[in-house]
Amino acid sequence: MKLFDVYPLYDVTPVSANGIEVIDEKGQKYLDFYGGHAVISIGHSHPHYVARLKDQLEKIGFYSNSIQNPLQNELAQKLGELSGCDDYALFMCNSGAEANENALKMASFHTGKAKVIAFNNSFHGRTSAAVAATDNPAINAPINQQQEVTFLPFNDTEAFEKAIASDDFCAVILESIQGVGGLDEPTTEFFQFVASTCKSHGVVLIADEVQSGFGRSGKFFAFQHHGIQPDIITIAKGMGNGFPVGGVLIHNSFRASYGLLGTTFGGNHLACAATLSVLEVMEDENLIQNAAEVGNYLKERAKELPQVKNVKGRGLMLGLEFDFEVSELRKALIHNQHMFTGGAKNKKLLRILPALNVTKNHIDLLLEGLKKELK
Ligand SMILES: Cc1ncc(COP(=O)(O)O)c(C=O)c1O
Repeated sequence: MKLFDVYPLYDVTPVSANGIEVIDEKGQKYLDFYGGHAVISIGHSHPHYVARLKDQLEKIGFYSNSIQNPLQNELAQKLGELSGCDDYALFMCNSGAEANENALKMASFHTGKAKVIAFNNSFHGRTSAAVAATDNPAINAPINQQQEVTFLPFNDTEAFEKAIASDDFCAVILESIQGVGGLDEPTTEFFQFVASTCKSHGVVLIADEVQSGFGRSGKFFAFQHHGIQPDIITIAKGMGNGFPVGGVLIHNSFRASYGLLGTTFGGNHLACAATLSVLEVMEDENLIQNAAEVGNYLKERAKELPQVKNVKGRGLMLGLEFDFEVSELRKALIHNQHMFTGGAKNKKLLRILPALNVTKNHIDLLLEGLKKELK
């Protein structure tokens, strides 16, 4: 059997990794400024992560959601403490799309309505309601197009007010910092306007923190830069440092009932162990603070590159915007400098999404590599 050919691949075969280094089958080391698409949060194969997962696997790796699993409670408790969101309840699932799918579903159950407001350039995943709220017709199959989604621009209060006035929306979903779209984010004024308008219209505000959450922006959640409180928060990527896990934080004002949401794999013992170890390392090693500091350092040092026209994003969710398309530059960085970086829908944006324990020395190496390739 062949693989279903949907991914354009770089000619690199990683066989091991450690911290922010990835090593290929020829023994070549690469510096990972991409984090496997913002997934690696505490560094590849962090010793605490490896030990906790190994230990858990030797005890019990999986059982379904029909038994007591105290690890889920321990995780919910720790997540509430570290994120400052302890007035929410946690539902665990397996990916970012699934987190958003369940969030949209909860909004629809809660309000009895079906329409959704999303934003231009959004990406929320590839399942039914999540992909319908994603601004990319190429990945919306006819079966997904039955969902009614209104796309609006960020920061246009008039358009938002006009759209929501019809009172038939269940949810507004937005990425606190857009990932795939190219690191745009709403202004604080717009965030606050959206939050208060949702409240007055009884519409559920969903913050998609799948990429920007878990400390990447320099705060636990990126919406926390704007002083708002969403009704539902979705998480995934950095949560498991590579272990497939996602979650939905649902405000305590929502009512749960048996069977309302469900999943076979979500919240299994290994997923909990992976996520708990991520939270423990984030706390012990002050990784949120590091993300803020090293991110600011990179923003500052990027000014040394005259080819960089703009730096977007926050913390370690950054984009360097050039006035040319960056695909050749990314290839050159991999092949000549042995550095992984990311791209975006905005083809002129080079995305920098390293593990949150990346150091200023690593950033110096990135700058050197960029300078060589931009000559
Ligand atoms: C903001 C955001 N939401 C949702 C998703 C979908 O996550 P997953 O690929 O785990 O389904 C992504 C993935 O890139 C994302 O960046």
